[in-house]
Amino acid sequence: MAQNSRDMKRKLYLETFGCQMNVLDSELVLGQLRAHGYESTEDRDRADVILFNTCSVREHAEQKVWSRLGELRPHKQQRPELVIGVIGCMAERDGTDLFRRYPHVDLLCGPGELDKLTQLVHNAVITGADRTRQVALMGSNTRRSATLAAAEDNLELLDLSRSISSEDDIAQAYVRITRGCNKFCSYCVVPYTRGPEVHRPPGNIIEEVKRLAQAGVREVTLLGQTVNHYHYRDGDGRQTTFAQLLYDIHEAVTELPRLRFVTSFPRDFTNEALQAMRDCSRICRYLHAPAQHGSDRILKAMNRGYTAGQYYDFVDRARGMMSDISIASDFIVGFPGETEEDFELTMEMVRRCRFKNSFIFKYSPRPGTVAIDRFADDVADADKRSRNNRLLAVQQEVSESINRQMIDRTVQVLVEGESKLVSRQAAAVGKVELGWQRRADESSAGETQMVGRTAGDQIVVFPAPRSLKGQLVEVRIVGAKNLTLFGKLQEVAVSV
Ligand code: 5AD
Ligand code: SF4
Repeated sequence: MAQNSRDMKRKLYLETFGCQMNVLDSELVLGQLRAHGYESTEDRDRADVILFNTCSVREHAEQKVWSRLGELRPHKQQRPELVIGVIGCMAERDGTDLFRRYPHVDLLCGPGELDKLTQLVHNAVITGADRTRQVALMGSNTRRSATLAAAEDNLELLDLSRSISSEDDIAQAYVRITRGCNKFCSYCVVPYTRGPEVHRPPGNIIEEVKRLAQAGVREVTLLGQTVNHYHYRDGDGRQTTFAQLLYDIHEAVTELPRLRFVTSFPRDFTNEALQAMRDCSRICRYLHAPAQHGSDRILKAMNRGYTAGQYYDFVDRARGMMSDISIASDFIVGFPGETEEDFELTMEMVRRCRFKNSFIFKYSPRPGTVAIDRFADDVADADKRSRNNRLLAVQQEVSESINRQMIDRTVQVLVEGESKLVSRQAAAVGKVELGWQRRADESSAGETQMVGRTAGDQIVVFPAPRSLKGQLVEVRIVGAKNLTLFGKLQEVAVSV
């Protein structure tokens, strides 16, 4: 493969769907492919290799990839040497059945096998139009358990292969701490596509966070499907809990201004982990801890392992320790058997818990899950849609009221870039409350609407120079809508 880098570089187009875990996987495989002579391109038509890193969580996510694959059929006919690959959760879930529907696909690689991707791509490229199909999947549970230890090591190498350079000029980065999931919520494909939970050695995690911080990263987000379930036992039997990991990173990487983590599983939240958040000033007081439902009957059918009462207790515990903690949730509406009474309990939960925001999904039956086998998808789509909209409306009220409480406060914001917010709503608030009209005149002097996030993950839009991208700044909040805070730049916070 070394010879490749001396030849003209092959162009690679990689499109990512789904969660943060996929975003990180894409970054890592892109790094490896670049190191082996591939060059990424945004122009799909000029690519030699096209990869889709896919998501299977809902059918909607899969449909997008199906339509992309459909579009590529004529391309492949015209250029048989073009390599088309499906990687990530859809590859693992559909397996080689995918070739039947899309015979022009050359390569499949599951999320647990991504350490092999460079080799697969290379094999597909060198065989060209006479290709043999390249496949790496975890397969069945039995095979998985036999090869788990080896797979763990190889995947660890993928994480460790990350190229970190201060020239990358990135302010935010993800660091994986656990892979896979053991919860088996009845509706969810993740335990089947990503395999059983595996925890990374704490030393490797700390080292990675340190290298990122030293390269200029300002905010690291620790990732895991059930991130707070992290626990690691080393060869000498020494245990590292999630709480301990937080303390250790906080102490070892003092140059990192912000540390956060997603996604938390409510039942696994120990007081020690909450204490670590309270004690460590650079850990963001933000939790994404999906409740999924407010009805005990549905939570049981979902196999979530807690009751609504236990979820309320968890929220009370968190707020009791940190009154300013910001909590976000996910909810599924229209789960099999959900009645209006059940749904009302979800509405009540959103009102009582005062989530910063909620991601709301209509139940989507997923092949291979327990729910699709056991329960009929019996809530009409019109009801799912109506419940989705009603829940969203309640959440918007809650979000707006939380945001309004921020007015006149000064918050620390990590500037992500230029705001794409050009809606009338923003413009109206901007012009009336912020004097954006005047600032718009100044835009030739390099000032524009910038967007960033608070430690509590609230979005803030404010006029500022573009040069502030990637920096932590102080912003006074002067206006609020349900999704956005509007502010005025105070000063640049440079020191940590
Ligand atoms: N249908 C609808 N939503 C789902 N989620 C996971 N599986 C499904 C499904 N089958 C949602 C959950 C999860 C989020 C990532 O996606 O709310 O927290
Ligand atoms: Fe899916 Fe449940 Fe695991 Fe989350 S905790 S990834 S919803 S099985």
